[in-house]
Amino acid sequence: MFKRLTVSAAAVAVCVIASVPFDAGRADDEATPIFGIKMFPGYRDWRLISVAHEEGKLNDLRAILGNDIAVQAYREGNQIFPDGSVIARIAWAYTSSEENNNVFGQRQSFVAGEPKEGVQFMVKDSAKYAATGGWGFAQFFDGKPVEETVIKTCFPCHEPAKAHDFVFTRYAP
Ligand code: HEC
Repeated sequence: MFKRLTVSAAAVAVCVIASVPFDAGRADDEATPIFGIKMFPGYRDWRLISVAHEEGKLNDLRAILGNDIAVQAYREGNQIFPDGSVIARIAWAYTSSEENNNVFGQRQSFVAGEPKEGVQFMVKDSAKYAATGGWGFAQFFDGKPVEETVIKTCFPCHEPAKAHDFVFTRYAP
């Protein structure tokens, strides 16, 4: 009797463990409100467009990455990005490195700490997203899309960059 119970308890444990990756995978399938954009799983392999450091409330270190279409447009100096361009923004805590500072003998080294602020995407589809300059906007935290109220703030704030297709970041050669 005791043996049988142990076996079934083990079976339950296996089921629970097996369901964890399944649920985690589902979060990646959720589309962002308004624009219906899903997470781009390969974005971390995209090429570097530039980096930036935000102070104030954000206090982060960030990298802007582009898929092949976006990077090619940048390198050709295009002012308007073709359909299929995707630009990603990732960010980390702006962290003082004690280990590096010890080597330099003064506090001068700041490095990427924990990831923060999720990942943001701008996706060019001039027909689908005609009302927002041809760009769809998305942000995910651990694969989960942010809510509609956040997504609504994206385009209005990017409008001042209209002269260069609503994109602020310049290519860092
Ligand atoms: C308060 C204004 C503001 C809001 C709101 C905002 N952005 Fe931005 N965004 C900027 C600025 C300014 C930059 C350039 C920042 C820098 O490099 O220092 C930027 C950069 C970006 C970039 C890199 C490409 C570029 O334009 O430089 C992406 C991608 C991006 N934002 C996506 C989004 C998404 C998605 C949202 C909404 C969830 C959003 N942004 C909301 C102002 C804003």
